[in-house]
Amino acid sequence: MNILISDIKILAGTRSSNSVLKGTSLASLPSIRDAYLIIEDGQIADYGGMKELKRKATSFDEHYIATGKIILPCWCDSHTHLVFAGYREHEFVRKIKGETYEQIAAGGGGILLSAQQLHEMSEDELFIVSFRRLQEVIRMGTGAIEIKSGYGLSIEGEMKMLRVIRRLKQTASIPVRSTFLGAHTFPAAYKDNREGYIKMIIEQMIPVIASEKLADYMDVFCDQGFFTVEETLRICKAGSAFSIFPKIHANQLSVSGGVEAAIHAGAISVDHLEKMDSHAIQALAGSGTIGTLLPAAAFFLRMEYPPARQMIDAGCAIALASDHNPGSSPSGNMNFVVSLACIQMKMLPEEAINAATINGAYAMGLGEEIGSVTVGKKANLILTQPVSSIAYLPYAFGQHHIENVMIGGEWVKDLNMNQQHRN
Ligand code: NIG
Ligand code: FE
Repeated sequence: MNILISDIKILAGTRSSNSVLKGTSLASLPSIRDAYLIIEDGQIADYGGMKELKRKATSFDEHYIATGKIILPCWCDSHTHLVFAGYREHEFVRKIKGETYEQIAAGGGGILLSAQQLHEMSEDELFIVSFRRLQEVIRMGTGAIEIKSGYGLSIEGEMKMLRVIRRLKQTASIPVRSTFLGAHTFPAAYKDNREGYIKMIIEQMIPVIASEKLADYMDVFCDQGFFTVEETLRICKAGSAFSIFPKIHANQLSVSGGVEAAIHAGAISVDHLEKMDSHAIQALAGSGTIGTLLPAAAFFLRMEYPPARQMIDAGCAIALASDHNPGSSPSGNMNFVVSLACIQMKMLPEEAINAATINGAYAMGLGEEIGSVTVGKKANLILTQPVSSIAYLPYAFGQHHIENVMIGGEWVKDLNMNQQHRN
C-alpha cells in the first residue's frame, strides 16, 4: 500500500538524521513549504517540495490533497499514568475550597485513593477503561506513549497494572512503553515501616517484574513526603541490576536533590522539575538525562511552572509530556500541553513542538522509530485543519486544530470524501 499526500502547506519536523535536541538546537524545526509526503507500508518513504515530486499521483493506491494544512509528527507523550480505575473530581472540588495536594494525600486521598479504586476493579475492566482512554489520546494526536504503574502499591496490584499495560502494547496501534512505579508512595499499611516496603520493591517486585519482562523502565517519586534521595538510589540500583533503567519523578514539590540522584542513577529522563535551583539546572545541562516538563500538572495544581527558559538557555535537553493521571493532570491532551509550554513557560512554538515530538520519543527510547518526518520512521502523523502558521497551533489554545491523525499509514478518522482520491 502506498499513499501520496500532496500540496501540504507545511511539512514540519523533517529530519534526515536524529538526535536529542539540547539548548539552542531545540528552536529549529526543519520544515518544507508546499510539500509532498509518500508513505509505503506504514512508513515514511519519501518527502520533498512539490516541484521535486517525480511520480504521477495516479501511480499511488491513495492520494490526499492537503492544501492549506500542516503535517507534523504525532505527539510522543513520554510520561503518563494512563492506566487508572477512576477519576478524583471530588478532590478537585476540595482543592478549590482550599486544601492542598499534600494535605489530601496525607489524609489517605490522592495516590492512595487511586490505589484503593484500582484494587476494587477487575483486570479486564481496567484494561477496557484504559484502552478507551488510549484511543481518545490517539485521536488528539498522540502517536507514542509511556504508561506507568504505581497505583497498585502491592505485588499483585503492580503486576495487574503492568499486565494491563502489556495488553495495551499488544493491542494498541501506537508504540507503548511501560514503566514500573512501585515507589510512587508508601501504602497505608507501611506508613510506619518504610524499610519494609522498600525491601518489598527491591527483593520481590523488581525480580518478578524483570523475569516476566513487564517493564521497559522503572520510576521513583523522589520528593518531599515521598521517597528520599538515598531510598531512590537504592531502588534504582536494584532495577539497574536487572537492566531496568530509571525515569524519575523529581523536584515537583521541593528542591529535593532528586535531579542529581536521577543523573547519578543514569536515568533516561527526570520529570516534573517545577522546583529547580542553579545547581540542579547545571547538573542536568551537563548530563545525558532528558528533563521532562509536565506543565499540565503545574496548571491543574496551581503550582509554579518549571523554569523552562533557564533550562534551555543552560543547554538542557527538554521534553514535554502530559502526566495524564487522575490526581494532577486529568487530561492527556498534548495540544494543550504544547500551548501551556508556550504561554506559561515562554517556550517558542518550535521548541515546544520539538520537545513534544522528537525529544519525547528519545525520553522513552523511541528516538530512532518515531517523533520526526524521517525516511524509514513509522508514519504516525498529525494532519491539521487549514491553519495560517505553525505558531497558530499553540496560540489558539483549546481550539480543535486536528483534522485527522495517521497511525502506521492509516487514518484514525474517516476522511471527508472531498479530500480523498482513491486511485
Ligand atoms: O506525576 N507526582 C506523582 N505522581 C503523579 C500524581 C499521581 C496522582 O496524584 O494520582 C504526578 O503528578
Ligand atoms: Fe507523573
